[in-house]
Amino acid sequence: MPRDLITVQVGQCGNQVGTEFWKQLCAEHGIAPDGLLKRERAGPADARLAHHQQQERHVGDRKEVFFYQADDDRYVPRAVLIDLEPRVIEAIQAGVQKGLYNSENMFTAPSGGGAGNNWASGYQQGQTHEDALFDMLDREADNSESLEGFLMTHSVAGGTGSGLGSFLLDRFHDHFPKKIVQTYSVFPNQSDMSDVVVQPYNTMLALKRLTMNADCVVVLDNTALNRLAEERLLVSQPTFPQVNSLVATVMAAATSTLRFPGNMYNDLTSLMASLIPSPQSHFLIPGYTPLTLLEGDTAGLSQIRKTSVLEIMRRLLLSQNLMVTVPIKQGCYISSLNIIQGDVDPADIYKSLQRIRERQAINFISWAPTSVHVALSRKSPFLASANRVSGLMLANHTSISKLFTTTANQYDKLRKRNAFLDSYKKQSMFAENLDEFDSSREVVGDLIEEYIAAERDDYLEWAARKTVSQIQSTGGLRTGTAVR
Ligand code: GTP
Ligand code: MG
Repeated sequence: MPRDLITVQVGQCGNQVGTEFWKQLCAEHGIAPDGLLKRERAGPADARLAHHQQQERHVGDRKEVFFYQADDDRYVPRAVLIDLEPRVIEAIQAGVQKGLYNSENMFTAPSGGGAGNNWASGYQQGQTHEDALFDMLDREADNSESLEGFLMTHSVAGGTGSGLGSFLLDRFHDHFPKKIVQTYSVFPNQSDMSDVVVQPYNTMLALKRLTMNADCVVVLDNTALNRLAEERLLVSQPTFPQVNSLVATVMAAATSTLRFPGNMYNDLTSLMASLIPSPQSHFLIPGYTPLTLLEGDTAGLSQIRKTSVLEIMRRLLLSQNLMVTVPIKQGCYISSLNIIQGDVDPADIYKSLQRIRERQAINFISWAPTSVHVALSRKSPFLASANRVSGLMLANHTSISKLFTTTANQYDKLRKRNAFLDSYKKQSMFAENLDEFDSSREVVGDLIEEYIAAERDDYLEWAARKTVSQIQSTGGLRTGTAVR
């Protein structure tokens, strides 16, 4: 069964999130920053091997999903680091993880100028460097015996993660037809328009690709991430590493059943199948509780005192524990998966689910039988945890349409005035016309409609009518690419 995953980090945000993710994964698998197992440093090779095998049996983890082992026993992340400016990747090469990555898997553009918050510049530089980028990805894919797919980390608001990330999404399935593409996509601060004025353009252009070419998008936004860092990690002015550690927590929990396998959800395909009933509705809202920082980071622990399964499952339903700013009390759940980690009696899970059902705490869609899926996952034996139990929720919920509507409204305001379009028109793909802008707006409009329609009792008939009219008007379907 294929299960290895290659992480593709694009742009500043993508690489900085990636840094925290690998920090977390190394900690969970007992891997030091240089790639060696923490207790495996001294002794002759045979003793090391015996020790390693013993530990492997004891821990029962699958490091190979995210790491391969080099000839000198080091664990090397299956990671490809891409940026159009050198600063962030150079910082990684000079930082604590400098010995961790395969240096052949790092790409910085020869010109080094970045994409200057311009989606089109990022996209076109992706086209220019397609061979070099896919050579790197091909090599990494060949290095895996059972590749399941790719995880891409990026922000949608800048130029590189958004534009070059979009280019990769456009091309992934041609290069790797049967592989899953999942993204962790950071949306900009919703309340702060002054950050970079063209963010709504970049976000809109990237959202088209996330809709059409990704199989699954885990959505995060900087408003929610900053609020969580302030309220739960008790830091007054969160830094990017602190905010990114929250994203890393979600990524680690979402892949915990792959890395510490139990009876269910041992690959990404089965996780996604439980969450994505129709190909276009593949945007997931993550929530997590209780939040803490990795050992060694400053700031206090979150103030949670009681971590019973019921308490965790209840907290996961609260909007303040979500990593996206959406009104989750409105609208309905299309699906929901709780990954509960820790020392838990399975009977507790059933009891808690029953209590939640009795209280009718969850509003599900009416057109399909649904319930909260629960996966029990082991915690890493290498990490001391302040909490007995922790939980991740991945929800496919119709309120995500509000995030897209906010983006669309911000976009419409700029576009109506044709504001700040000059830098885009200077790029050859927009020299003739801005059709790509309009097409992206249309795709996102459809996406919003789809999520709103999912709240209707007659959604299935609505979807069937829509499919017929799409085939009639375009001669084909416009949907995401579905779980292969
Ligand atoms: P260019 O620099 O324009 O070529 O593209 P880029 O992909 O490097 O841009 P960047 O990732 O900096 O995207 C800008 C958006 O990402 C803004 O909304 C920033 O607030 C956000 N951002 C940048 N770095 C980080 C980070 O490390 N973590 C988080 N959460 N957001 C970030
Ligand atoms: Mg950058």
